[in-house]
Amino acid sequence: MRRQSVDSAVDRFDRWVRNEFVDLNTRLEEGYFEAGGDLVPGRPDLEEARRTLTADGARLIARIAADGRVPADAHERYRLLGAVGFHLAACRRHGTDGAGPGGGSGPGGGSGGPLTAAWSLANLLGASLGVAPRYVFAHQSLHNLSVRGALHTFTRLDDEHLFVTVNGLAALAYRRAAEALRVIPAMGVSNPMAGYPLENARSALGDVLGFNRRLAETLDADRFRLNIRPYFQSHRVGGTEYRGANAGDFAAINEIDLLLGLCRADDPFYQGVLAEKRPYVPPGDQAALSAAVTARPLLDAFLHEASEGPVGPWLRRNAELFLDVCRAHGAAYAFHHHRLVRPFLEEPARPARHLPGESRGPVTAGGSPLDAVIAVLGRLSDLRAARTRPGTAGARAHLDRLRELLAAGP
Ligand code: HEM
Repeated sequence: MRRQSVDSAVDRFDRWVRNEFVDLNTRLEEGYFEAGGDLVPGRPDLEEARRTLTADGARLIARIAADGRVPADAHERYRLLGAVGFHLAACRRHGTDGAGPGGGSGPGGGSGGPLTAAWSLANLLGASLGVAPRYVFAHQSLHNLSVRGALHTFTRLDDEHLFVTVNGLAALAYRRAAEALRVIPAMGVSNPMAGYPLENARSALGDVLGFNRRLAETLDADRFRLNIRPYFQSHRVGGTEYRGANAGDFAAINEIDLLLGLCRADDPFYQGVLAEKRPYVPPGDQAALSAAVTARPLLDAFLHEASEGPVGPWLRRNAELFLDVCRAHGAAYAFHHHRLVRPFLEEPARPARHLPGESRGPVTAGGSPLDAVIAVLGRLSDLRAARTRPGTAGARAHLDRLRELLAAGP
C-alpha cells in the first residue's frame, strides 16, 4: 500500500524557499550584476520577479499562520524561523518590505501589508525560543539542514555557496578550539594531560586562519558586495529593526577570548559586545556564553602557578603551548580584520552605474556606519592579538610577565 504523505503548510513553504525562491533571487542578482547596479528600477522583468517573490512567500507564510500550529520541536521551530527570515531578508534586499525612504508604505510593509503574517510568525517563533525574530548566521551554517546535498541559500551563485560553507567551517574550527580549552580549568594548567587539548586548540585556530585565507583568495569581491552581502543587512520585523547576520554570531569565539584571558568579562567594552550578540546566537550557545563569563581565565591560572615556585616541566610545556594558542587566536582574527573585513567592505566595487535613489553605501550587517563597525572590530582585533591600546584593558602586560617567569628558569 502506498504511504500517503501529509504535506503541511510548513513543508510547502520549505519546498518553495529551497526552489522557486532561490531561482527568483538568482535571476534578480544576475540582472543587478549585469547592469552593474543595485535593484535596477524600470526593468519590467525584474519588477515582476520582485513582486512574485514577495507575494508568493507572503501567501505561503500566511497559510502557516492560518493553520495556527507551529512545530512542537524546538529545532524545527528554529529552522522555520530561519526560513521565514530568509524571505524577510530577501524582501529587504529587493526593496519590497516597505522600508524605503517613505517608511512603511512600500509594497511589503505597513500593518495590514503582505508581510504582516511573516512578522507575526517570526515574532512568535523568536519569543518561543528566546532569540531575535530573524534569520541569523547559524541558519546559514550549523543549523542549515542539507536536503539531497543542497543547502538552504538565497541564490545559486557559486560565491554565496563558497561564502556560507567556508564561514561555517571556520565557525566549526572555532568551536573545536573552544571545546578543547573548556576542559582545562578542571584539570589544572600543570596537568601532564593539558598539553593535548592545548595542541588541539592551536591546530583548530590554525584551521580558522586557513579558512579565512581560502575566502580571501577565492571569494569574488564584486559579487560579494553586490549580490551576497545585501542579504545580511538589518531588516524590520513588525515595528522593530533587527540588525543583520554575521559570522560572529556564535559563542565559541567569545569562550576562547575569555578562557584564554585575552578579553575580560568585567571589561565594559567587551560586556557590550556579549550583550549585543546574545539574542543572535543559536539557543544552545546562550548557556555557553553565560558559562564563559564565570570561568577562570587560563592566563590567570598560569601566572598563579608560575609565580608560586619553581616552574616544573609540565607547567613550562603547557605554558609555552598556551602562548602559541594565544598567538594563533590573534593571527586568525587579525587576518579577518585586515584581509576580509577591510578589503571586502571598504574598497569600492567596480564602478557602479549610479541609479537615482537606488545606490546604497557600504552595507554593514549591523546597519551601523562602516567606520563605527571597523572601529569596534579593530578594538576586538587588538584585544585578541594582545596589542596595547592606550586606555583599554589588554592582556599584553600579563603575557609578558608569564614569559619572564618562564625565562627565569626552574
Ligand atoms: C568575506 C568574508 C568576511 C567578511 C567581509 C566579514 C565581515 C565582518 C563584518 C563587517 C563584521 C561586523 C558585523 C557588522 O557588519 O556589523 C564581522 C563580524 C564578525 N565576523 Fe566576519 N567577515 C567575514 C568572514 C568571517 C569568517 C570566515 C569568520 C569566522 C568564523 C568571521 C568571524 C566574525 C566574528 C567572530 C565577528 C563578530 C565580531 C567579533 O566577535 O569579533 N567572519 N565580520
